[in-house]
Amino acid sequence: MKKSPEQLRSHRWFAGEDLRSFTHRSRAKQMGYAVEDFAGKPIIGIINTWSDLTTCHSHFRTRADEVKRGVWQAGGFPVELPAMPVNETFMKPSPMMYRNFLAMETEELLRSQPIDGAVLMGGCDKTTPGLLMGAISMNVPAIYLPAGSMLRGNWNGQVMGSGNDVGKYWAEKRAGLIGDCEWAEIEDGIARSPGHCMTMGTASTMTSIAETLGMTLPGASSIPAVDANHSRMASACGRRIVDMVWEDLKPTGILKLASFENAITADMAIGGSTNAIIHLVALAGRVGIKLDLKIFDDISQRTPMIANLRPSGEYLMEDFYYAGGLRALLKEISKLLNLDALTVSGKSLGANLESARICNSEVIRSVDHPVSQRGGTAVLYGNLAPNGAVIKPTAAEPHLLQHVGPAVVFKNHQDMMMRVDDEDLVVDENSVLVLQNAGPLGAPGMPEWGMLPIPKKLLQKGVRDMVRISDARMSGTSYGTCVLHVAPESFVGGPLALVRDGDLIELGVANRKLDLRVSHDELARRRTQWSPEPPRYERGFGALYSAHVTQADQGCDFDFLHAGAATSEPEIH
Ligand code: FES
Repeated sequence: MKKSPEQLRSHRWFAGEDLRSFTHRSRAKQMGYAVEDFAGKPIIGIINTWSDLTTCHSHFRTRADEVKRGVWQAGGFPVELPAMPVNETFMKPSPMMYRNFLAMETEELLRSQPIDGAVLMGGCDKTTPGLLMGAISMNVPAIYLPAGSMLRGNWNGQVMGSGNDVGKYWAEKRAGLIGDCEWAEIEDGIARSPGHCMTMGTASTMTSIAETLGMTLPGASSIPAVDANHSRMASACGRRIVDMVWEDLKPTGILKLASFENAITADMAIGGSTNAIIHLVALAGRVGIKLDLKIFDDISQRTPMIANLRPSGEYLMEDFYYAGGLRALLKEISKLLNLDALTVSGKSLGANLESARICNSEVIRSVDHPVSQRGGTAVLYGNLAPNGAVIKPTAAEPHLLQHVGPAVVFKNHQDMMMRVDDEDLVVDENSVLVLQNAGPLGAPGMPEWGMLPIPKKLLQKGVRDMVRISDARMSGTSYGTCVLHVAPESFVGGPLALVRDGDLIELGVANRKLDLRVSHDELARRRTQWSPEPPRYERGFGALYSAHVTQADQGCDFDFLHAGAATSEPEIH
C-alpha cells in the first residue's frame, strides 16, 4: 500500500506549527524554494562521492543534476549531500581504511537529516560497498547509481586495460624492453575518460554485484560512464527512488540470503576481483547474514566463468556493454540464480532479465563454452591460513597452482621494496615470495600489495609469474599466482608471522591447501619468540579503525557496525 505524505520520514521535520518546523521551512525557503517545492514530497538525498581527486567520478556533478531532474519529474524534492570521496588512486595508506568511514558517514547523513530515500553515487572500488553498507544500516529506500567504466585505453592503436596492462608494461620497462618515450605514451593513453577502471577489477566487480543484489536499475552497471545512456539512467534513478519511497521498498526488503548467493554466483561468472569476498561478507553482515568463506568456494565450484574480460580474459567493460552487459550474462547463467529475488525496480531479477540477450558470444561466452569451467576464486586453508586465504586461479599461471617452494620473506612493504631487486637476494623462479605485515592492522588498511613484484633479475630471465603470499589484498586488475587475505594476519600473530627464509611452502589449489612445511614444535618455538608491534595509530580515525576493524574473513567491517539492535530515529527539538 502506498505511503501517505504524513508517513514520510521528512514530515517530522517540515510539518506542524511549532518553532522547529517553522525553522526548517524557513531555511528551505532561504535557498529559494517555495513550500510547493517540498511540502508533502519525498525528500531524496543524493549522496555524491565526487571530488577533484576522485578521478573515476569526474562526471558526477553532471550526473547529480540529471538525478535531480528525475526526482523533480516524479514529484520528489532532491538534495545533494557530498560524502567521503574514497578514491583508489590518491588515498593513502589505503582507501580500504576509509570504506568504513564512508559507510558510517552515509548512514549518519541519512539518519540525522530529513531524508526519505537515497540515490547513492559511487563506482571507484570502495565507494560501492561503503555507500551500500551505510544505506543498508540506515535502511531508508535506496538505489545505487554506478559510475560506469571509462573507455578502453589506447596506445598506438593497441587496446590497454587499467591496472593489468600497467603492471604488464611496468614489468617490461623494468626488464629494459620498453623505453621512457613509450612509457610516457602509455601514461597518456591508459585512462582517457571519466569512469572507473574498465577491466573486471574491483570497481566493475562491485558495481556488477550491486546490480545482481538488486540495488541498481536493470543494466545500470554495464553502461560506460560517457555513454548518453548513462545520463538517462541517472535520471531514471531519480524517478524510481521517488516511487520506492511511496512503496516503502527498503534495502532489508531486497537483500536476502538468495540475493547474496546470486551476487556470489555472478562474481564467479564474471571472474570478479578477490576484493569482492571481503565486501560481500561485510555487506551481508549489515543485514545479519553471516557469509562463511566456504560458500564462495562452493559456488565457485559450480559456476562457469563466462565473461571473457581482463584480467582473466581478453576484453574490456566497454566490449562487455556492447555484448549485452551484465543482464545478458545473468540470463545465460539463470539456472544458477534465484530469479525470484526482488530488486529496486520493484520486479524480480528474473523479470529484469527477460529481454536480455548476448550480442557477442566471444565476450560473453555460453555456459557450454566458458572461459573457465569453474569460477574465478578459490578459498584455501591450512596451517598457514587457519581462517582462510583466497586466490584467483583464473589470473594465475596454471603450472603454479600446484607448487612447493622455499620462502623468501619480506617483513613489511618497505623491506620488500628495498630488497626485491637486490642482485644478492637468494631467489629463483621456484621460490615463494612472502610479504608480512600487510593486512588490515599491520599495513595498515590492507593495501593492494598482494601482487608482489617479481625480482628484477628473474624478470630479465623471462620469469613473469611466481607464487606470492601475503595478508594484503590485490587489485582486481592485477594478475598472477597471488595468495591473498591470509587470516589471521601476521600483525596479530597469525602463522604468516612465523615464516622464515627457506621454509618450504605448499600451495595446492585443487585441494584448497596452503601449508607451511615446518613442524608443529618448531612453530610453537617460534611463537614464543614473536612479540606484537604497538598499534599503528594512537589518535583519530586511525585509532578507531585499529580498535574495531575485523579480520579479512569477517569482512573488515567495524565490530560495532554489524547488524544489531536498530538505532532509534533522532528526536527533533
Ligand atoms: Fe577508481 Fe580504479 S581507480 S576504479
